[in-house]
Amino acid sequence: RILILDFGSQYTQLIARRVREAGVYCEIYACDVADQAIVDFAPTGLILSGGPESVTFSETPRIPAAVFELGVPLLGICYGMQAMASQLGGSVEASDEKEFGYASIRARGHSRLLRDIEDHTTPEGYGMLDVWMSHGDRVSVLPDGFKIIASSESAPIAGIGDDERGWYGVQFHPEVTHTTQGARVLSRFVHDICGCAGEWTSGNIIEDSIARVREQVGNGKVLLGLSGGVDSSVVAALLHRAIGDQLTCVFVDNGLLRQDEGDQVMATFARHMGVNVIRVDAEARFLAALEGETDPERKRKIIGNLFIDVFDEQAAKLQDVDWLAQGTIYPDVIESAGAATGKAHVIKSHHNVGGLPEHMKLKLVEPLRELFKDEVRRIGLELGLPSDMIQRHPFPGPGLGVRILGEVRKEYADLLRRADAIFIDELRRHDWYDKVSQAFAVFLPVKSVGVTGDGRRYEYVIALRAVETVDFMTARWAHLPYEFLDLVSRRIINEIHGISRVVYDISGKPPATIEWE
Ligand code: XMP
Repeated sequence: RILILDFGSQYTQLIARRVREAGVYCEIYACDVADQAIVDFAPTGLILSGGPESVTFSETPRIPAAVFELGVPLLGICYGMQAMASQLGGSVEASDEKEFGYASIRARGHSRLLRDIEDHTTPEGYGMLDVWMSHGDRVSVLPDGFKIIASSESAPIAGIGDDERGWYGVQFHPEVTHTTQGARVLSRFVHDICGCAGEWTSGNIIEDSIARVREQVGNGKVLLGLSGGVDSSVVAALLHRAIGDQLTCVFVDNGLLRQDEGDQVMATFARHMGVNVIRVDAEARFLAALEGETDPERKRKIIGNLFIDVFDEQAAKLQDVDWLAQGTIYPDVIESAGAATGKAHVIKSHHNVGGLPEHMKLKLVEPLRELFKDEVRRIGLELGLPSDMIQRHPFPGPGLGVRILGEVRKEYADLLRRADAIFIDELRRHDWYDKVSQAFAVFLPVKSVGVTGDGRRYEYVIALRAVETVDFMTARWAHLPYEFLDLVSRRIINEIHGISRVVYDISGKPPATIEWE
């Protein structure tokens, strides 16, 4: 297993994902972690990430001493390489020119790290690599025992290596896809140099998680808030396989779910897989609590707090529950403060699980804590969950509550569910569903005039929203074909009494958010 020390690079998570994709387990620790934690992790090799600082200043992070005493292979990337060079007796100089973007570097000599890895060869026979660079400082003097393994015009020492110890440094970023051979470089390091086998596969992750859950909870009883979203669904499937009837799930139907969603969750988990699921029909309570409320943030609060109350009431009815399961995943862990030390225990802030009664004193079990989203999806499929469920677009905790503008009413929710189902159905049918990142309908409580046949209609408006995004922080509206939008619009207006107009949202994020509220 590989330990990644984080020096603050925006790409550190990517390093971890690439290593996992190479089939090798890894974790990220903060660079100032205690020596003992590094020793306890017992890494087969270490990767030192890049970072925004400069080693030419004295207050900036340094590599912990334990790293050099373990006697295992090391790979320093950018800042990681500079820190290595400077701490091992070489030097690093600040440079006025910053290099940012694509660069072509020459792989030199026959280092074990870069041997035979190249994008093209020069007429003189040198192997060249197209890489992504992002740095100001550069190594100017090699530390003892190291050779230059790569160079570029602006960085004559763009890579250093000591084949004997298996210690390497590269100025470029192998973890980003712009570095075309990056995955091969990382794979070379973790497989050939560290000697890690590619055993981190879905099957092994499941086996390993099952063994650990069994050991952790023993004969204890576990409670899980099942939402139907990917993370809680995979936790349910995994725990069910690990501990069977010791698991009880609570599924709260708040009346703000998509069409047939509650039935699908019950069909998949309760009927099909035989998981204990308590379905709580709380639609009336949620609608009553939301009555008259038009402010989006207050609506969110009402829905979140009521969820907690309903969940807690159910939990309190259960006898002898010892554990609370949560679908926390690795990015949640990394993103929370202090998490990189591997110690943080974070309660997910959104509405999955709330403030359980003090007296219950539940311990947390979080079987996905070490997994990235794509790994969670893969093991979900392997555990037999339907791919529709696993590949589903994200759905906000407050559900249709933030897609019905202003006051939430049952009549509106019912109209919206039907319009949304038509839109999603056609997206799937025309192979658009997987090409967009999130798509849904929004209910606008304004009436507009229409005509059908001889009749005049004066009914509500539905807005359709579909976006493409990687991280949901920024998004562009999906350029769905006019013919497709035409078809969806006709179906909604013809099939749903109560809707007389359909519009398509062509706002990007920013400035518009993805949801309308
Ligand atoms: P916005 O609307 O902020 O949404 O551009 C970004 C992503 O977050 C989802 N979202 C929520 N998820 N509770 C959630 O669990 C919420 O209150 C919430 N609001 C927005 C949204 O669906 C999109 O994927």
